[in-house]
Amino acid sequence: MRALVTGAGRGLGAALVNELATRGITVIGTARRDVPTDVARSCEHIVQLDLADRLSIAAAVNELNTIGEPIDLLVNNAGLDGRSVGGGEHDRGPLEIDPNVFMRQIEVNALGPLLLSRGLVELLQAATAPRIVNVSSQLGHPEVVRRAGRDVGYNASKAALTTTSATLARDLPGVTVVAVHPGWVRTDMGGPEAALSVEESATRLVDAMLALRPEHSGQFLDVDGYPFQP
Ligand SMILES: NC(=O)c1ccc[n+]([C@@H]2O[C@H](COP(=O)([O-])OP(=O)(O)OC[C@H]3O[C@@H](n4cnc5c(N)ncnc54)[C@H](OP(=O)(O)O)[C@@H]3O)[C@@H](O)[C@H]2O)c1
Repeated sequence: MRALVTGAGRGLGAALVNELATRGITVIGTARRDVPTDVARSCEHIVQLDLADRLSIAAAVNELNTIGEPIDLLVNNAGLDGRSVGGGEHDRGPLEIDPNVFMRQIEVNALGPLLLSRGLVELLQAATAPRIVNVSSQLGHPEVVRRAGRDVGYNASKAALTTTSATLARDLPGVTVVAVHPGWVRTDMGGPEAALSVEESATRLVDAMLALRPEHSGQFLDVDGYPFQP
């Protein structure tokens, strides 16, 4: 089995790479820059990928298609929030958001994963039971957003990723496509107060990914693979 994990250099992506490799799964990681030694050791290849740059996405798709190995599991993990593209603590709400900050999040969190996924359709369809797992967020669910979150670009981009997963699932009947909320995780994005360590989230997510069945396709799932409850 071969898995491709985006955003492999740190946070949840690095933990997913290590967890998948520990279970004997061959892993290809993508990153924008050099990755830590443990991640490099766990990966068969590291492919350079910046989801904000369509040429970079096309080049990564080309490189992976040239490698030509079937992909059983594509994990679209890489993502960002408004802070990492210049949004301040108090100007990410709907009344203040800089349009460029909003659009950058749509590009990286929603459009990029879609372009990557569709560029890899042939490699996915060459696998026996292919899966695409889009790491979305509860902060893309309207019922959760009514209570929490103040980054409208993040909310909108994750809502777009979740709904894009459902439409892709409909158009790719042979591929199981889901969106998942990984829990609130202690990473640069989640912060030190978050409930789950990266290792715990990654272990539970990998269990859920390996248990996916075609009937899950199109669903938004929690970290354990159950339908997400807002
Ligand atoms: N942490 C949480 O509590 C939480 C909750 C819900 C959902 N999520 C989602 O889980 C996923 C992983 O988040 P995390 O907590 O691990 O965040 P993180 O620690 O901030 O890591 C983000 C990852 O995404 C990569 N990335 C950012 N911009 C990119 C771009 N333009 N092109 C390619 N890669 C890019 C980063 O690469 P660089 O090192 O190059 O920046 C890094 O590997 C994200 O999709 C996030 O939205 C996280």
